[in-house]
Amino acid sequence: MTEHVKIAREGGVLELTSIRPDKKNAITGEMYAALGGGIDGANKDSEIKAILISAEGDMFTAGNDLADFAKQAAGAPAERAGEDMVSGNPLLIALARAEKPIIAAVQGRAVGVGGTMLLHCDLVYIAESATITMPFINLGLTPENASSLLLPQRIGHARAFAVFALGEAIGGQDAVDLGIAYKCLPAGEVRSAAREAAKTIAARSLSALVATKKLMRDSKLLADVMNRENAVFAAQLRTPEAAAAFAAFLNKPKAA
Ligand code: COA
Repeated sequence: MTEHVKIAREGGVLELTSIRPDKKNAITGEMYAALGGGIDGANKDSEIKAILISAEGDMFTAGNDLADFAKQAAGAPAERAGEDMVSGNPLLIALARAEKPIIAAVQGRAVGVGGTMLLHCDLVYIAESATITMPFINLGLTPENASSLLLPQRIGHARAFAVFALGEAIGGQDAVDLGIAYKCLPAGEVRSAAREAAKTIAARSLSALVATKKLMRDSKLLADVMNRENAVFAAQLRTPEAAAAFAAFLNKPKAA
């Protein structure tokens, strides 16, 4: 249980909302577990037909909590019930094996794992002012949770490499044009449009939705790629370059 994730159900829609705006919705081990548990639970819940993921505040997420990364890099156990964060992220594992449609509402930034999450969602509504960045290499890390497969699949190798290696940001309209998001809207309209879509989907045949999603994805391939990436990521997490990048962020002077 964490106060940083709100879980609500309404009219066949499971709503998962990150509520850690003071830390830009950086995702902790407890938040991964809560979000992943909600998504996994929906597979067995016949009343839930769609899942809506969103976040309070000015940012979808600043990515993985860097203090957590620093602790893992130093060899401390991950702060996540019974799991090592580098051997499997419960949120991304749940997203990769989710049976029901997942809709996301994105405002502000989606950094790192925030961008990766979107590649596993079925419908992404994004703000015109939003940006997606995946600065893994800048942190001494590597793409994770099937982003090494899904990002080049969506946007091509060259652009994907620029996102990973140059830290190129993808804006809201670009995300639609490149096939990452479905609709780009003014920031104030994103969550309501995503909620409306979730409600519409929840009125459809559950068996048809589940079968369609299954036909559109190769879950086994996703799992294989994620396992391969995790081993590389775990090794990178413990490099001096990664440790230096985490320390630089965590020790940066506070804004006056
Ligand atoms: N992990 C832990 N804490 C984070 C965080 C993260 N990923 N991102 C932001 N925060 C915290 C900051 O430390 C700060 O905390 P404080 O108020 O106690 O000092 C608070 O959230 C606000 O962040 P701040 O950096 O002041 O906001 P900003 O609007 O100036 O910048 C970002 C926003 C996202 C550009 C910047 O926070 C950032 O670069 N974060 C790291 C992103 C990242 O590398 N994520 C991992 C990708 S794999």
